[in-house]
Order: sequence, then C-alpha cells, then structure tokens
Amino acid sequence: MIHAEGLSFTYATQSEPALSGIGLRVSAGEAVGIIGCDGSGKSTLLQVLAGLAPRLVKGSRQGSLCIAGLDPAKAETAARMRTVGLVFSDPASQLTGVCPTVEEEIAWSLGNIGESRQAMHRKAEDLIGRLHLEHIRFRTPHTLSSGQQQLVAIASVLILKPKVLLFDEPATRLDAASRRAVADLAKQLAREGHTVLWSSSSLEDVDGFSRWIYLERGQILYDGAPRHVGGQAWPAPWTRLAQAAKEAGKWPGPMPLREADAAEELRKMSAAARQLSP
Ligand SMILES: Nc1ncnc2c1ncn2[C@@H]1O[C@H](COP(=O)(O)OP(=O)(O)O)[C@@H](O)[C@H]1O
Ligand SMILES: [Mg+2]
Repeated sequence: MIHAEGLSFTYATQSEPALSGIGLRVSAGEAVGIIGCDGSGKSTLLQVLAGLAPRLVKGSRQGSLCIAGLDPAKAETAARMRTVGLVFSDPASQLTGVCPTVEEEIAWSLGNIGESRQAMHRKAEDLIGRLHLEHIRFRTPHTLSSGQQQLVAIASVLILKPKVLLFDEPATRLDAASRRAVADLAKQLAREGHTVLWSSSSLEDVDGFSRWIYLERGQILYDGAPRHVGGQAWPAPWTRLAQAAKEAGKWPGPMPLREADAAEELRKMSAAARQLSP
C-alpha cells in the first residue's frame, strides 16, 4: 500500500533535511505507530506521505514514494483524497471555518468530490454515531471545545474512507475516554483493510498497534514489533518505572522513550517537590 525508498525532505527555509533516507513498506490492514520525540520528523513524514509536502509545505523531496499506485505529490485532488487522508494534531487548522453545523463540517469534503446530498447525510450520520457526536451534531464547529473539534476533524477525514489514514498526534486534546475511542476506531479501520499510521510522542497511544516505527533526527531507527525501541528492549527499565509511577498517579509527564527523557522528567519532578517543601 505504501512504498517509499530513499525518501528525504528538506524544508525550503532549512539547509538540513528534516527526513532522510526513509525506506518504508506498509501493507493494507496494518496499524503502525510512528513514535519519536518532538522534532524527530513525525509530522514531516506524515505530511510527505499525504502529499502536503512539497505541494503546500514548500521544500524539496528526494527519493520515491508510491501509495496505492500513485505519488501523492503529483496525483490530482479527488484521487489523492480517496487514497490518503491526514488528521492534523491541531484541529483548528483542519476545520473549514465555513460550515454552520458539525454534520455539514463532517460531510463537507464529500461535496467537493461530487457526492449527492443524500449520500453525504447518510455517511455523516454513520460517523456521528461511531464517534458519539450526536449531542453536538447541530453545533457550530468553532464554538466547540478543542477536544470536540478534534473528533469532528477526525470524522471529516474518515468520511472519505481513504485507503491510507494518517493520524498526526491526534489525541493530544482528547480526554482518556475519547483517546481510547479514537485509537480503537483506528485499529478497527485497519482490521477493515485500511492502512493506519498514527504518530505519537507517547507510547501509551500506540499500545496494541501491530508495528512501531521509531524516528530520531528524521531517520528510522527501529521498525518492527512493538518490543524494541531504539535498540532497547521494550519496555525499557526507566519506562517500566515511569509506568508504575503513572499508575500510582505520580508521573506527570509522557512515557519516556529514552533514558535521557526519563532523567529530565525526574529532574523536573524533584525541582517541583523542592519548591513545595517548606
Ligand atoms: N514548517 C517547517 N519549516 C521549517 N522547519 C520545520 C517545519 N516543520 C518542522 N520543521 C523542522 O523539521 C524537523 C522535524 O519536525 P517535525 O516533523 O515537526 O517533528 P515532530 O512532528 O516529530 O515533532 C524539526 O527540526 C523541525 O524544527
Ligand atoms: Mg509533530
């Protein structure tokens, strides 16, 4: 479904590539977690896969990319929209800003590719049910909380049923229950034959995905079963420690992928504790 070789991307404003030498094969029905720290290249990779870079986000792309037989940087809009859909981490940048209701917002992209009003209504209704949005169906999108907007943005991409679904840290604004609902839906879509890539800087979100890809400085350092991350047996001792602390309600930050991240979080926690003590 996805086949990339030697894929690199350099932003027009930068001299160093944000992605380099990415080789990737993902089949239909796979659910892949793209993990890595801030700045590791997760968003860039998803934007390149979606064809957004270099079409809208300026820069130069090298190497080859083929998604379901087409190159998303070159394909015409309707074919691309049916092939690959990207959910941004910031829902405000995904919403059209012109639709008066959630239902219309969700159905909007179907109108763009010429579907009938009737089909738009039926498909929007189905997603409203799946994502439990009945109570906000007739609300104006820009008046919603950012978590609700995120769910609407997700629905507006899912409605096109693209073969490849890319989620760029889609859960950052969601509460635990919605996070689980969206992750479960993503896994369900993979079982139905979609290809799902889901980026996250925290390992909890991609728990239960069949494959993990670990990015560091724009390169893939690990690609395989969710047992090893960056050459380190998973869960690493410091991640296990953080998990135990989190279960006890005593780990405020994200799950640390690297020893250095765990050390940094512990430093912050001890500084905060010092401030509290008399
Ligand atoms: N629009 C942009 N213009 C220039 N540089 C960018 C842009 N977006 C990201 N970068 C740079 O590309 C690198 C990878 O960033 P990004 O893909 O956003 O990582 P992540 O999503 O993992 O946090 C970083 O060094 C970042 O500063
Ligand atoms: Mg990002």
